[in-house]
Formats: sequence, C-alpha cells, structure tokens
Amino acid sequence: MGRKFFVGGNWKCNGTAEEVKKIVSTLNAGEVPSEDVVEVVVSPPFVFLGLVKGLLKPDFHIAAQNCWVKKGGAFTGEVSAEMLINLGIPWVILGHSERRLILNESNDFVGDKVAYALSQGLKVIACVGETLEQRESGSTMDVVAAQTKAIAERISNWENVVLAYEPVWAIGTGKVASPAQAQEVHFELRKWLQVNTSPEVAATTRIIYGGSVSGANCKELAAQPDVDGFLVGGASLKPEFIDIIKSAE
Ligand code: G3P
Repeated sequence: MGRKFFVGGNWKCNGTAEEVKKIVSTLNAGEVPSEDVVEVVVSPPFVFLGLVKGLLKPDFHIAAQNCWVKKGGAFTGEVSAEMLINLGIPWVILGHSERRLILNESNDFVGDKVAYALSQGLKVIACVGETLEQRESGSTMDVVAAQTKAIAERISNWENVVLAYEPVWAIGTGKVASPAQAQEVHFELRKWLQVNTSPEVAATTRIIYGGSVSGANCKELAAQPDVDGFLVGGASLKPEFIDIIKSAE
C-alpha cells in the first residue's frame, strides 16, 4: 500500500504549561522510528500551540484541535485557519465526536470546516465514528459513510486529509475496538472512498483508528491491513505514547 503510518496525539482540554513542557521533553527524548516510517502529529490545546511549537523537535508536527469554518472576524472565541497558518501550525483536527455531540457540529458544518481548512493550506485529521446505540442498531456504516460523504462532496483533493475512525463508544472508555472491528470499518470506509471518490484516493488516504489506544493494544491494531495509524487521546499524555509510535515498525 505504501501509506506512511500516522500517529496523532490529541491532548484534548488538558495540561498546564509545566505539564506540557514535561510531555514535550518526554517526546523529544523518545527513541522512535524515523519520519519516513511514521508521521507524528501532536495536538495541544490552542493556548499551548506556541509553547509546544517552540519546544518540540522538528520531526514531530503539531495540530490544532479545531478551527473556524470561514475567514476570521466577528466570531468571538473562535480561532481561524488563517491564524494557524500564520502561527506555522500545519495540521488541524476537525469533526471530533466530542465537538459533534457536545457542541452539535453537524456533518455539513464539519464538511464545510474541512473544505475551508484545506483551502487555507492546512492538513486535516477528519474524524468520523458512531455511538454505541448506532452500532447496536447496526447503522455503523450508514453513520460513518454519511459523515465521510459530507466531506467528500465538498473537496476534490484528499492528499492533505487523514481520516480518523473513532467509535464514540471506545473513546475514553478503555473499551478499545477489537482489531477485527477496527479492520472491518476501515475496510468499508476505504471501499466507500473507492466507489465515491477514486481508487487512487482510496489507496493513498490514511485511515487511522482512535478510541482507547494504548501501549498494550496498539501492535495488534497496527497489524490490520487497513489501519494506517492512530489518533490517541489519554495515552498521548503519557510516556506510553512512545510505544504507540513504535508500533509503526
Ligand atoms: O481523538 C482521540 C480520542 O478521541 C481518543 O481518546 O482517550 O480513548 O485515546 P482516548
């Protein structure tokens, strides 16, 4: 396949300046595979983007955890894609389930955000995933296909998109998807891309898994043919994040 392994660390709304400095020094000291084997992108809260940018070693990259849907202006509290570019932040996470469910971000709104962020030169980790209720009712693929469709109908170039499948029921719960569960959805998502975008997009787009990834379960998940990496929450704040990065080997 030749898709470079991708490991993202989503720090969510966590940390103090002191804690962030400690996390970064652990990352900088970590023995990890070279950048041509694995792409590592860490995502601190907005308030620490500058601090992390100044401390993180250059072969690791930085993402914001969100950005606004259009050019900046009278949108109190928002951070624009232009600001991230100006700060030298190359990546942004969009459509995380916590924003979809807590802040009611719709599929169309997420699709608009992805399109605008890409248009401003950002690279995007676009998140999709179903709730436990949706999985138990057998509508997992309907849900993630609709979320992906809302992105696909607004963009034509996928080269700066990483698709993150994050089953909501696995996020922060310790109930990681089994390798078979992850592989099944990743395979179906890649098939969806093949049919609805192009065989080239399907073959080259990284589809990464998120939801209770840990140093203990990452190897088996990484061995799945359609799992191209991870988006890690809680474990990205701990030294075991280095082990998760090493699962790229
Ligand atoms: O974006 C990644 C996150 O949602 C996964 O969180 O703590 O289950 O690894 P966690």
